[in-house]
Amino acid sequence: MRKKGFVFGLVLVLLFALSACNSKESSGGEKEKSGTDSKKSEKKVEIFSWWTGAGEEDGLKALIALFQDKHPDIQIENAAVAGGAGTNAKAVLASRMQGNDPPSTFQVHGGAELNEGWVAAGKMEPLNDLYEKEGWNDKFPKSLIEMVSKDGNIYSVPVNIHRGNVLWYNKHVFDENGLKAPTTFEEFFAVADKLKAKGITPLALGDKEPWTAVQIYENILLAELGTEAYGKLWTGDQSFKDEKVVKATETFKKMLSYINDDHASRNWQDASQLVAKGEAAMNIMGDWAKGYFVNDLKLAVNKDFGYITTPGTAGKFMVITDTFGLPKGIKNVEETKQFLSVLGSVEGQDAFNPLKGSIPARVDADVSKYDQYGKDTIEDFKTAELSPSLAHGSAAPEGFLTKANQAVNIFVSQKDVKQLTDSLAQAAEELK
Ligand code: BGC
Repeated sequence: MRKKGFVFGLVLVLLFALSACNSKESSGGEKEKSGTDSKKSEKKVEIFSWWTGAGEEDGLKALIALFQDKHPDIQIENAAVAGGAGTNAKAVLASRMQGNDPPSTFQVHGGAELNEGWVAAGKMEPLNDLYEKEGWNDKFPKSLIEMVSKDGNIYSVPVNIHRGNVLWYNKHVFDENGLKAPTTFEEFFAVADKLKAKGITPLALGDKEPWTAVQIYENILLAELGTEAYGKLWTGDQSFKDEKVVKATETFKKMLSYINDDHASRNWQDASQLVAKGEAAMNIMGDWAKGYFVNDLKLAVNKDFGYITTPGTAGKFMVITDTFGLPKGIKNVEETKQFLSVLGSVEGQDAFNPLKGSIPARVDADVSKYDQYGKDTIEDFKTAELSPSLAHGSAAPEGFLTKANQAVNIFVSQKDVKQLTDSLAQAAEELK
């Protein structure tokens, strides 16, 4: 008891001494500290994305750490909003932009989402000067710079290239059942039948957010139509009522008979988990799934899971590029440009992409930093035919994508081929 009282007394004395010390310093030390703080809070960059947790944020965190290392005086605010493919983030961003409260920089896909969206609305600053200053004009593939340009001006900096046409499979399940990764739809259905007979779900889907089903459908469209005709779908020069589109939609319908029953209550991570656990054998997903398998679920490439292009799409590359630009009217322009400089540097890209699952957007990144999947994909990108993804906003403006998401979502439950192609044909009227 006496001992306790003594300790309590000592603590009081110490607290008193400390507070006296603080008040003495308050004219010098304390002020300086708050001065630094307020300077730091003036120097702030708010990064808006949808990379939160499970397989999404590892790359972003590495990029932020690298930036803080180089610019300890600039505060970073990570304003990420959860939801795959920007399901929720895009709506939050739209209302902030409308209310003249833009984040310093935000995740936006190259292609229509950037150019027909924010640039056309007059909300973005050109970045030609930054590209000049950093010597970037020949450091990104020409095709990629085109995806972030409009009327001769460049509007954002690509941090990566994701591939959208990948079929991931559980290697243990495939090996145990003597299966080979399917390269055609015929092979896919043969493999799927064998798996089904064994009680294993052939294809995992999590379409709680409908974009995941749209992504499978666009993969099949690319396979059935080829790169050129697929591209014409988005300019209104290729009809959705064409027999090839009908055939693709029939294939999609057949694929849907091999998915997990609870698909509507799962998101893409939950669906990928089915494959990781061997409850399902395959899923078709962008290569952010690799980031998830490796970083979050601790699976090994080519040991626990394998990868192959979606049936019928060898030599084709569904491009999804995450880019960041400079919105008009933000406060910390210089600091934000500094962030963009790091994001566009070799160091920045090689910190981000090995974790994110994507390949670097730059042509001169350090290939040795990437695993076998990354190395293969970097090579493929050089020679493959490139196509923009609809599900991820590059192929067509947001208005069309919203309608496509709805139509495909209805299709997944009703499986009415004519209804889907008719709805898409009608929505495509606005693309002409
Ligand atoms: C983005 C990726 C992201 C994926 C899932 C895509 O739209 O480009 O960076 O990992 O959505 O959220």
